[in-house]
Amino acid sequence: MPRRRPVTDDSTDVPSRLAVGLMAGTSLDGVDAALVRLSGSLDRPKVRLRAFITVPYARGLRETLMRIAGGEPATLGELSDLNSRVGEAFAEAVLAVCRRARVEPGRLAVIGSHGQTVYHQGSASKGKRPSTLQIGEAALIAYETGAQVVADFRPADIAAGGEGAPLVPMVDYLFLRDDRQGTVALNIGGIANVTVIPPGARPQDVFGFDTGPGNMVMDALVQRFTRGRKHYDAGGRIAARGKMISGLLEECMNFAFFRRQPPKSAGREQFGDEFLRCYFLGKSQHPDDLLRTASELTTRSIVEALDLFVFSRLGPGRIHRLVVSGGGAHNKFLLRRLKELLPRLPVQLSDHYGLPVDAKEAIAFAVLADRTLQGLPGNLPSVTGARRSVVLGKLVRV
Ligand SMILES: Nc1ncnc2c1ncn2[C@@H]1O[C@H](COP(=O)(O)OP(=O)(O)O)[C@@H](O)[C@H]1O
Ligand SMILES: [Mg+2]
Repeated sequence: MPRRRPVTDDSTDVPSRLAVGLMAGTSLDGVDAALVRLSGSLDRPKVRLRAFITVPYARGLRETLMRIAGGEPATLGELSDLNSRVGEAFAEAVLAVCRRARVEPGRLAVIGSHGQTVYHQGSASKGKRPSTLQIGEAALIAYETGAQVVADFRPADIAAGGEGAPLVPMVDYLFLRDDRQGTVALNIGGIANVTVIPPGARPQDVFGFDTGPGNMVMDALVQRFTRGRKHYDAGGRIAARGKMISGLLEECMNFAFFRRQPPKSAGREQFGDEFLRCYFLGKSQHPDDLLRTASELTTRSIVEALDLFVFSRLGPGRIHRLVVSGGGAHNKFLLRRLKELLPRLPVQLSDHYGLPVDAKEAIAFAVLADRTLQGLPGNLPSVTGARRSVVLGKLVRV
């Protein structure tokens, strides 16, 4: 197999440049766009957020995505059409974030687009490759903005034998590593995931994985109980007034995913409608109590994953801080429970490191696209399980 060497030495300084990162997560809440200025060397980049915006999906588009990402059958025509509609939404998000920062889109060095995941099966059955599909036509984004686009980051890692996810750990490594402080970066999106960076880590010492549900199960319950009027439990207020149903929590914690060794990744395939039907629907308990239990499922599965796969593997005293990001960082009740269950670990928000909680993942795809343009790898094999590091993504030029 041909083995291409990266063309750039990543310790060289490159001129400062503007980039936009685009992310749309499993919550299906909309498209996040972060406009950043990147500077410094490529292995110790500096990032300054110039503007950030979330453009919510139009209701019809969101409902269609929910259906298809939830595993309902779709025709190829529908999927093809969806690829264009999501591409248009992404292009619109770039134009909006550029307007906010008063930057001409044509001045962007690159746009990095993660796309919208509509299917992800990371842990393949024996002998079968993992499979992933992100949509949002990159050619549309490039044409509408006049800037070059790097998109479709995951397949290159899968081609190299990885799960294709998670990819943000490379960016966590670039921005959060420290010679003395061991860090766990925790992103609470639809799914929750961690990146573990021991003190003085080299790239191969970093590992990470999905811990299970972030907001996905809670969001689904809120949407059902409010008949779609609310999309999430703002601040965790409903969960805070509910009572935990211990038996149900223990049942959920027996779900096989939680005990599987990393690397592992999850999505709506594991924690979507089917999970909800199996554990939460048709129960006689009060909605507040079910939500309280779903909230505890998120915190408990995070804390157990840290105990099982992080603290025990690294040995005592190697992790000094938990850096939280993602929409779940706004859930005060969730964060309170996390702190209660991890009394010895300082919990910080990623804002503290120049990566605002809502913008962090979008920023990551600006950085990853920039690496691709420089010919540098974007995956961490120790995280995804790939045989080696590879340059990620596909480039659309205008
Ligand atoms: N104020 C808030 N209180 C509680 N939860 C919130 C709040 N704001 C956002 N969230 C949660 O964050 C989710 C969106 O998080 P995000 O990081 O965008 O996830 P994804 O990457 O899956 O799209 C929402 O669906 C909601 O569950
Ligand atoms: Mg989101």
